[in-house]
Amino acid sequence: MSAPVVVRPKPYLVGVEAGRTYFWCTCGRSARQPFCDGSHQGTAFSPVPYKPTHDDELLFCGCKHTQNAPFCDGAHTNLPGGSPVDDPLSHENRAIPVVTDRDGPRARLNGRCYVFSSELAEMEVRGSLRYCCMVSAELGAHYQTQLLMEVSGAASPVLSLGGSDVILFIGAGTGSITISGRPFAVKATDGVYIRPREAIQLMAAPGETLKAFVLACPSGEIEWLEAMPRNFDAQFPTRIVPVDTDQRTAMGPRYFQMLVDTRIGSTVITQFIGHIPPSKAAPHRHLYEEAIIVLAGEGYMWTEDKKARIKAGDVIFLPRKQLHSLEATSAAGIDVVGVICPGDNPSINYYD
Ligand code: FES
Repeated sequence: MSAPVVVRPKPYLVGVEAGRTYFWCTCGRSARQPFCDGSHQGTAFSPVPYKPTHDDELLFCGCKHTQNAPFCDGAHTNLPGGSPVDDPLSHENRAIPVVTDRDGPRARLNGRCYVFSSELAEMEVRGSLRYCCMVSAELGAHYQTQLLMEVSGAASPVLSLGGSDVILFIGAGTGSITISGRPFAVKATDGVYIRPREAIQLMAAPGETLKAFVLACPSGEIEWLEAMPRNFDAQFPTRIVPVDTDQRTAMGPRYFQMLVDTRIGSTVITQFIGHIPPSKAAPHRHLYEEAIIVLAGEGYMWTEDKKARIKAGDVIFLPRKQLHSLEATSAAGIDVVGVICPGDNPSINYYD
């Protein structure tokens, strides 16, 4: 069978109606993309039917190379032209100013998107724990709360984020985390998964500060507990995921490695660590809400008609469907950790 025509290296966002049957074009010859118009006749291709059970908005593959037909699975990112870049010095882009309009630690971009600079945040203190909230429903998030926590000296107070799934990224230091009575050693760049209703206590190694980015989905509030509950969910014994360069997935010139995801039981949040070489991605959107922690490097986050500087330690909040483009200006590129919800595949993106 000859290869299908790559209609475009991005999916189509289509509103679908429950009970109606859609025929997704597999050959790439239809003039009614992403659906069939009969042009496959005489070829070895045939359309793939899809009948939704409820009204929805879905991303149908436009490159015709998905392994999850009829939907986009991110395969387009590794096809020629699949990771298009944008010229930050184009006439239009030169006219876009760097935002100066700050709301405390937040530089606000279009929509509800913002860049949170943690060094400008006022930290609250409880025992050996210093913490601040970087993403929340109050700040415009629909699916998550993200906190920065730092602990040194004694163990932190015991806390829980209620019925939410919780993911930590260890940003600096070494130490331990006790999850509902079970201790785990942690180090910088580890991802950590906490089941709903479990409690945590952080402790830094002697002389160190342990820094953790803590994300709860759905949004949750800190509950301070008098004692550590013994409700560790032993059905999910693996809780720490280290960086492993053998597990990288290429995404054009970028790459990422999944940290906490469905493999260890996290079905509502997905965490990955990734690298962006010096470049500006073409503006695009995602169907998931995302929080991006900048680990190393500098650059800009661009939205429709604004851009904000980003640097190590910043957290970018990106609402669903927000047009955006991340630019790495450092010669070594930018390293990031992303947490997406709802969703499980950071290589799925689309444009209008
Ligand atoms: S458009 Fe084909 S996999 Fe994304």
